[in-house]
Amino acid sequence: MSTNDDKAQEAAQEAAEASLPEVENQGDGGGPAGPVILSFIIGLVASLIVGWVLFPKALYSQKKQPFNFNHKLHTAEVADGCASCHYFREDGSFSGIPNLESCMECHEEALGESEDEAVFIEEYVDKGREVPWLVYSRQPACVFFSHAAHVEAGGMDCVTCHGHIGESETSRVYEENRISGYSRDIWGKSIAGFKHDPWDRMKMDDCAKCHAEKGVGVMRDDVKNPVKSHFLETVGMIWPTTTTPTKGTSVQTEKDGCLVCHK
Ligand code: HEC
Ligand code: HEC
Ligand code: HEC
Ligand code: HEC
Ligand code: HEC
Repeated sequence: MSTNDDKAQEAAQEAAEASLPEVENQGDGGGPAGPVILSFIIGLVASLIVGWVLFPKALYSQKKQPFNFNHKLHTAEVADGCASCHYFREDGSFSGIPNLESCMECHEEALGESEDEAVFIEEYVDKGREVPWLVYSRQPACVFFSHAAHVEAGGMDCVTCHGHIGESETSRVYEENRISGYSRDIWGKSIAGFKHDPWDRMKMDDCAKCHAEKGVGVMRDDVKNPVKSHFLETVGMIWPTTTTPTKGTSVQTEKDGCLVCHK
């Protein structure tokens, strides 16, 4: 966010500087407040456009999946729902995106006439090449994530973290952050940081927030003692320097908790 803010501020300053002298000259009748407010508004609007529209556009490059995959159609075709393709192996590891071999059960030859299937057959089935799917939820390599812990032990639904991909009829565009190379799903759609649904964003703090709520890992002690933790948090809000926050809502404050999610 800081680069974003900096850019926005720069733009605001530039816009304010550019518009000030001009407006001041005609400021005869309106009194001194009018032009100042006007230039402030122009600057504000310009900075909002730069920060919220142009900057995100420039920050993310759009990539298409190799071809569309229709989740709705396939979930109805298979015997075992999502688990027909996304299952846990004997050793507890998660299969992830199915490989070409599992598609071949049905797609040895074309089943229909759609363009997407034609691309699939020609480019991948016939050539025996794995489909290079782009993974929307892919975390940086240093992050350790286990589906077994969440889905099997935690009993969580796919929707909680992934949204409604499982019911979609086409693959959505993949957006890649030009600076970090990460998927946009990590830092989220909203450049201002708003989060409406739990799957809108999956940054470090989003993992940690849910862990704190559910009492996972290093957060457990704080969550065990919610009254004390709430009290200290409230005191900390009124006199910020008097207490250290005890609630594990931000992992950045946890000195020894890093290895829960990092390898
Ligand atoms: C016939 C096999 C098949 C079935 C059945 C299936 N999927 Fe998928 N799934 C795929 C393939 C192939 C991809 C990669 C293409 C894509 O992202 O759309 C994928 C991708 C995904 C992803 C995207 C992961 C990411 O971050 O990129 C999610 C989430 C997902 N599936 C959930 C589900 C859910 C939930 C169901 C059941 C409602 C389901 N799938 C049923 C084959 C299947
Ligand atoms: C259980 C059988 C089955 C499996 C397994 C299966 N498919 Fe399909 N697939 C179908 C059927 C049936 C259709 C519909 C064909 C039609 O009528 O157009 C289809 C259609 C498609 C289409 C065209 C989509 C559209 O919207 O028209 C694509 C692309 C495709 N499949 C890719 C895959 C991939 C990739 C896999 C492996 C991850 C896979 N399929 C696994 C049965 C299957
Ligand atoms: C607690 C959140 C959470 C839940 C619940 C969850 N996932 Fe994921 N999923 C993730 C994260 C995070 C990743 C990225 C993992 C990584 O990059 O190491 C991921 C990755 C994936 C991938 C891509 C894996 C790959 O590497 O090819 C698929 C497919 C997927 N999930 C499907 C599912 C399905 C199906 C379910 C429900 C059975 C599910 N997920 C439940 C968070 C979750
Ligand atoms: C919506 C809630 C939720 C989100 C989001 C979530 N987790 Fe979890 N996580 C859990 C729960 C609940 C467990 C404990 C499951 C159990 O063992 O009962 C867990 C367990 C784990 C564990 C096992 C550690 C332990 O002490 O048992 C790891 C590692 C982990 N999560 C990493 C992550 C990462 C990395 C992310 C973000 C990419 C993430 N989680 C997002 C709820 C969540
Ligand atoms: C609850 C899981 C979790 C815990 C605990 C956690 N992290 Fe993270 N961390 C993540 C996830 C997920 C990402 C990637 C998404 C992001 O950048 O926010 C990340 C990213 C990072 C990055 C940026 C790496 C990169 O390649 O962009 C650093 C540095 C980092 N964490 C340090 C720490 C430190 C230090 C601690 C301990 C104080 C810690 N993390 C604890 C989940 C966690």
